[in-house]
Amino acid sequence: MDVEKAFHMTGGVGKTSYAKNSSLQKKASDKVKHIIIQTVEELYLATTPKSIGIADLGCSSGPNTLSIIKDIFHTIQAISHKIMHHSTEFRVYFNDLPTNDFNSIFKALPEFHKLLRQDRKNGLPSIFMGGYPGSFYGRLFPNSYLHFVHSSYSLHWLSRVPPALYDEHKTPLNKGCVYICEASPSVVSEAYSLQFQEDFSLFLRSRSEELVLGGRMVLIFLGRRGPEHVDRGNSFFWEILSRSFATLVSQGEIEQEVFDSYDVHFYAPSKEEIEEEVKKEGSLKLERLEMFEMEKGEDGSESYGTQVAVAVRAIQESMISHHFGERILDSLFENYARLVDQEMAKEDIRPISFVLNCMDNYECTLLFLFSASSSDQGEIEQEVFDSYDVHFYAPSKEEIEEEVKKEGSLKLERLEMFEMEKGEDGSESYGTQVAVAVRAIQESMISHHFGERILDSLFENYARLVDQEMAKEDIRPISFVLVLRKI
Ligand SMILES: C[S@@+](CC[C@H](N)C(=O)[O-])C[C@H]1O[C@@H](n2cnc3c(N)ncnc32)[C@H](O)[C@@H]1O
Repeated sequence: MDVEKAFHMTGGVGKTSYAKNSSLQKKASDKVKHIIIQTVEELYLATTPKSIGIADLGCSSGPNTLSIIKDIFHTIQAISHKIMHHSTEFRVYFNDLPTNDFNSIFKALPEFHKLLRQDRKNGLPSIFMGGYPGSFYGRLFPNSYLHFVHSSYSLHWLSRVPPALYDEHKTPLNKGCVYICEASPSVVSEAYSLQFQEDFSLFLRSRSEELVLGGRMVLIFLGRRGPEHVDRGNSFFWEILSRSFATLVSQGEIEQEVFDSYDVHFYAPSKEEIEEEVKKEGSLKLERLEMFEMEKGEDGSESYGTQVAVAVRAIQESMISHHFGERILDSLFENYARLVDQEMAKEDIRPISFVLNCMDNYECTLLFLFSASSSDQGEIEQEVFDSYDVHFYAPSKEEIEEEVKKEGSLKLERLEMFEMEKGEDGSESYGTQVAVAVRAIQESMISHHFGERILDSLFENYARLVDQEMAKEDIRPISFVLVLRKI
């Protein structure tokens, strides 16, 4: 399975979403926020860039994503004010796998801009934010593009389930466990360790090319205390997941073979393994590597087991559903919560984390819009129709030329007009083809103003009217293509 295509945090803002179930990660990252702040301050003072490139790798979606960017922004603002260097432009890149819910981030950006602006009397410095989908195990950005890279709770995810967990006949070697466990043969931990080395070195090499000289990274991810793979830190949570699956096998909910062939693409490295990879890669200096424990929080009325279960579900749901189907999720995570509470009653489980700090052809297509109305059928009120106008304008060639001239910084090298011709697509009438295209563009605005209920009949009318008009005379929408050069 291509995990980079299947793996994603549960999107949106629903009950089981990552956005609603990521407070444990936030609490843990907050414990080491001072390291991020200090690193950003040092970096800024050392480089005082006019334009600072910041990337959050494995940003996911939800409150954690923008919270750290806000802290970095405020830190730089405060320090630039102190040293009277006010002209820094911010470039913020949100990276995650393409299946991440980037839409949720983008929807939150206007509010986020407002929030940043609130604290500023003298306006907001330029801040440009965008999504950068792709795997961080490989190049994402151009050379010398970034000043600061942040990544929290993402780098313990490998690029794939190590292939050596299966023999040449695809028989699983780690039966009964989803990660390295007491019963795992040594080939399992070796396979995981090798995959980590391959992935982490590629990550470091890629980032070292993307960082400017003196650029810095702060990476926070899960790890293990010592050389032993099986401990009561991170591997224990996977053991509990294995036990939760085993319960479902014993209840006949899932088959043993299906369970045996499920392994997680996760690895908790030791301090030594991290140091070794940074040293081997050679182009980055490890300035700081600290281990810290995630403590059990006292959040609301839910048991700790339930808190951990919803957090693990928000992270693992996509992979488990892909392998076993969605149907088992509720009972699996009920078992999981119960087992975590039982184990915590015996002895604390404290996940170990590490924090490390190392150094256009421009085309305007003018679509024609509609005048079809449902008001004459009593479907909508005349006043509601009268108060609806489109935020669209079809400029003339002269108007475009005039504006380019007035603005002054671009030379209009070419401005050509062309007609869009009626296509002969499939069996549908031209009116229907146009109606579905216009509907896809206008539906959000029309629904907002009139309600969704009128959409079908409105666009049926529209298709019929276009066909009637086309039978009288061709309608050919005009488009312009402009070529502009910066002067
Ligand atoms: C647990 S979330 C952490 C989100 C956020 N940084 C936080 O601290 O709450 C881990 C994120 O890493 C992303 N991730 C895992 N492997 C990745 C890869 N190879 N490239 C980019 N993102 C990846 C996942 O899709 C997920 O959104």
